Amino acid sequence: MDRIAITGGAPLKGSIPIYGAKNSALKLQAAALLSAEPLVLENMPDLADTRFMAQLLASLGVEVAWIKEARTLRLHAGAIASTIAPYDLVRKMRATFNVLGPLLARVGHATVSLPGGCAIGARPVDLHLKAFEAMGVDIHIEQGYVKAAALRGLRGADITFPFVSVGATEHAMLAAVLAQGDTTLRNAAREPEIVDLADCLNAMGARIEGAGTSEINIRGVTSLKGAKHRVVSDRIEAGTYALAVAAARGDVLLEGANYDHIAALAELMRRAGVEVETEARGVRVRRNGGRLLAQDFETEPFPGFPTDLQAQAMAVLCLADGQSRIRETIFENRFMHAPELARLGAQIAVHGNEAVVTGVEKLIGAPVMATDLRASVSLVIAGLAAEGETIVNRVYHLDRGFESLEAKLAACGAQIERQRGD
Ligand code: UD1
Repeated sequence: MDRIAITGGAPLKGSIPIYGAKNSALKLQAAALLSAEPLVLENMPDLADTRFMAQLLASLGVEVAWIKEARTLRLHAGAIASTIAPYDLVRKMRATFNVLGPLLARVGHATVSLPGGCAIGARPVDLHLKAFEAMGVDIHIEQGYVKAAALRGLRGADITFPFVSVGATEHAMLAAVLAQGDTTLRNAAREPEIVDLADCLNAMGARIEGAGTSEINIRGVTSLKGAKHRVVSDRIEAGTYALAVAAARGDVLLEGANYDHIAALAELMRRAGVEVETEARGVRVRRNGGRLLAQDFETEPFPGFPTDLQAQAMAVLCLADGQSRIRETIFENRFMHAPELARLGAQIAVHGNEAVVTGVEKLIGAPVMATDLRASVSLVIAGLAAEGETIVNRVYHLDRGFESLEAKLAACGAQIERQRGD
């Protein structure tokens, strides 16, 4: 198994290109199932997760062509060859569950494995299924599979989500675009990825209004056409590198990053003592001088502080002056990085969904284990700031969501390398 070795202490200087957002790309890929014409996705990230999704789409009959140099994925669902998404593919990555809605919309039935358990909590799909039921879908769960059918077609519905879910909002949109009549989604998620999906679907001929607000209105159409769409830049990747600069010190331009998408993080970083500025080509992050100041924060749906940056921010606050309180409100088990950070000398006390981080003056490199995608990158960030060598094991988690991580950091002066395993 590959591992990443980091010798901490080198400041980061230069620029880092921010690629298309994984979390958006996955749902855009699923959208290709909605049209018999090709969907061309530009600025695609090339990640284990997007490849799984492409593999699943291919098994459903979609022609998949990846044009590496152009970072473009062409998906052509001329005909749907299968409506079954098997356990082996869905268990690897939860977002593959998102093919259910488009298959229902396009052919009226589908059998999709329930997503497997995930290390960061139970993560059920009840909201997704309730939204489909409201649209007239018959749903049965048999042997771990969702068997769904809308033989007379989907019909528009007025759906109020009991709490904000990114996945359920996107999934309902992916079905409602081809439903008969109007759909209203209330208490919808407002993440930039929702807006990106709406933009792509509208380019395909859908009629969606209000994406980015809590109420999304969708007028169903009878068919969608092909389109070309550029994937929105990855705010989590941008925020992660911003936090890497905060930890290691330096001056880096995050090329293509959108400030508005990371505003909650930028505000926290500024309060802590890091300069974060928007520029024509992206976002510039600078940190010189002394210790950062401790900060309290809690994770929230967009535009609040994203749960996907909680682990990385915690890694930075381990070295801040004072005590930071971090509350995780989105997932129930998302502090698995805390004991690993403690191996480097961090002082973190976890009580339920709250972590209290008492800043220390230095961290000292050690071997650590990656437990999930965002947790693993938090260990890399801590390693960049620690004295001596940190070895991050089980980096396959990182490869799910961060393309060319070592190369991007090394190009800015970090001492980091991948050691290939068996
Ligand atoms: C997406 C992101 C993930 C991010 C999360 C929150 C992708 C591929 N993943 O995940 O990186 O951390 O948004 O910003 O886009 N829930 C239910 N029932 C449901 C659906 C969700 O109880 O039917 C719960 C979840 O367990 C969680 C909360 O709702 O506690 C929010 O989850 P949700 O916003 O749906 O996250 P995902 O879409 O899975």
